[in-house]
Amino acid sequence: MEPRRERPVPWHGRAPGRVNLIGEHVDYLGGVVLPAAIDRHTRVSGHEAREWSIESDIGGGLSYVRAIGIELGMPPQAVAVESDVPPGSGLSSSAALLVAIAAGLHPELDGKEAALACQRAEQRATGVHVGVMDQFASALGRRGNALLLDCSTLDYQTVPFPDELVIAVIDSGEHRSLAETPYNERRREAESGHPKRRRHFESEIARVHAFVDALNERRFERLGVLLKESHQSLRDDFEVSTPNVDALVEHAWGVEGCLGARIMGAGFGGSILALIERGREQAFAEAMKREVIFCATADGAFAHRIVAR
Ligand code: GLA
Repeated sequence: MEPRRERPVPWHGRAPGRVNLIGEHVDYLGGVVLPAAIDRHTRVSGHEAREWSIESDIGGGLSYVRAIGIELGMPPQAVAVESDVPPGSGLSSSAALLVAIAAGLHPELDGKEAALACQRAEQRATGVHVGVMDQFASALGRRGNALLLDCSTLDYQTVPFPDELVIAVIDSGEHRSLAETPYNERRREAESGHPKRRRHFESEIARVHAFVDALNERRFERLGVLLKESHQSLRDDFEVSTPNVDALVEHAWGVEGCLGARIMGAGFGGSILALIERGREQAFAEAMKREVIFCATADGAFAHRIVAR
């Protein structure tokens, strides 16, 4: 007689996408970054199954699901995914998926450990040697704050994000999967001391610290200047922008109420980030003549586990 099988216990998880205010292409070099988790989420549910499978309203994802399962030492699972983090547009839909699964399968995991497991899973699934920023923000972001994260030690602190400002993200429409871009090449060049890549690294780190000071001192115009300088450095020294993205960023620079804008995330297309004075959202969206995603900061999937000591 067949032994009676117990019904698999279902699990659920949820994790946010992220923006990066500043500190681009420095995480994998041990630099400091300033991302924030945002109010767009991926929700997953699953149960143990004979083989790995995924049913997703944003498509794809099987290699990610399998990769995080392997990192966490889990048996195969059938996973269902619902998400309002648009894929391919620079809000880290893949990090949100990985962190949501980690939170569902292993809720008692330490947030840093979860972020590292998700980073390894992303590298395993894509072959792209990404840094830890996206997964970290999705796991440990805090509502009302950005995270100042030192990627060499994983020490971090929260930096209050002012109510007077709104984060805007605009998809350039140039979508790419990171595996098709020179991301790994840029990383190798920077690691081997390529002068322009290193110049970006040094100047961007200085901008991250200056940005945090400006946030704390509420010098909002200074934030905009730093965003512009970051874009110029990513365009000219790190060479990860495209003419289309440059045009979009420059357009945003000229709109009233926009403090500054820059390419965000890995680049080679993707999205731009702009900081807008609150109250100017509608006028900004009209001037940009494109869909603008306005984001609020949110808690990461593992943030509730942080207790004050
Ligand atoms: C992608 C990677 C991150 C980071 C950024 C560039 O989002 O996943 O680790 O390297 O690009 O800052």
